[in-house]
Amino acid sequence: MKKSIGIDQLEVGMYMEADVKEGAKGGASNKNVLLLGKGVLITSANQIRRLKAAGLANVIIDTTKGKDVEGGGGVPVAPVIVPPTQREPRKKALAPGRTVEYKEEMKMARKTKAAVNAALKNVMESTALGGVMDKQKLEIAGKLITQSVFRNVDAMVGLTRIKEHDPYTAAHCVNVCTLVLAVAFADGMDQSTCEMLATATLLHDIGKTKVPLEILNKPGRFEPHELQEMRKHTVYGEEILREMSDVTEEMMYIATQHHEMWNGTGYPHNLTGESIHRFGQMTAVADVYDALTSARVYKPAMPPHFALSRIYGNKDTEFRGDIVDLFIKALGLYPVGTLVQLNTEEIGIVCEPNPLNTRKPKVAIILTRYKKPRLVPFVVDLAEENAQEKREIAKVMDPTKFNIDVEVYLKRVAG
Ligand SMILES: [Fe+2]
Ligand SMILES: [Fe+2]
Repeated sequence: MKKSIGIDQLEVGMYMEADVKEGAKGGASNKNVLLLGKGVLITSANQIRRLKAAGLANVIIDTTKGKDVEGGGGVPVAPVIVPPTQREPRKKALAPGRTVEYKEEMKMARKTKAAVNAALKNVMESTALGGVMDKQKLEIAGKLITQSVFRNVDAMVGLTRIKEHDPYTAAHCVNVCTLVLAVAFADGMDQSTCEMLATATLLHDIGKTKVPLEILNKPGRFEPHELQEMRKHTVYGEEILREMSDVTEEMMYIATQHHEMWNGTGYPHNLTGESIHRFGQMTAVADVYDALTSARVYKPAMPPHFALSRIYGNKDTEFRGDIVDLFIKALGLYPVGTLVQLNTEEIGIVCEPNPLNTRKPKVAIILTRYKKPRLVPFVVDLAEENAQEKREIAKVMDPTKFNIDVEVYLKRVAG
């Protein structure tokens, strides 16, 4: 007899009479996932757990083939498919230091990035024309970024993977500012110091407004004399900042020392070790990371995970060790935008970090195990995988080898 029973009555030894499908798991791409097929014998507690996890209230069993409920209870029914119940999205606890969920903050972070970018572009353009710096505008911009970082640092950091290009590198400065703030936040710096740091790092390359545009925008590599001029942007930056009111020495170090290296191989003064201000070193790491992960005419963008490895490889040589550690802590092992192959051979892009376990971020699967593209990326939360579908990251891949434009997918997944 076909019988509808409550999910709590389901036991090992019962036969499923109808397909059991899940309706809303993982978004539109995963609609109507078959959890158990008609005629399947329940052989393990795991199968039952899986159905419970899917939020099903009732299932239909066939008591003529298998076990009945104790006392023969349940409701006889016609053989129809049980409509799947919608699972309530499970609210996860926020990771330490986050007061807003990643997805929620992402909406604000996007607006913040656009507003700060526009403000900085405006400031840089007027500086290039010899105008007066609008410091108040910059301070507001610095505050906005800091506030976003203090709500959920991962959102602004995630956006640094989306690169924009403009002549005065305003977008680069916003990214560097974000990455420096992420380090400062990981270091436990207070909000008002972070705001000062934000304003100063937004200006780290302000000296480039004094570099001739034909050098600044040169698509290829520099000739030696061009390189020399380009490197002067650190000195020009100092000159510009000296003319501003209320600029502290600390803020100045960011513009003047962000290309100095821990081992003395940087410029403009070949400073070494502790003689470089901590803020200068923090900006140096962020600056190199953003440059490595950006595409240039002469080089493709380096995948974030490889850029982190490169920086880690230069720990205690080019970069101060504890800052490298904080940087990696802030970005996680697989930063947003990392292309990964899973143990299932599927290929995906890391689309949301997991600060509680950096090895288990959310991944948008874009290629099936047969390397066929998925029309709609399917987002899996590696932290939520159960014993039966144990997807995990097997290795990091190079997107250029698959001809994949990660940014296009990221924008699509981020909605
Ligand atoms: Fe620079
Ligand atoms: Fe820079």
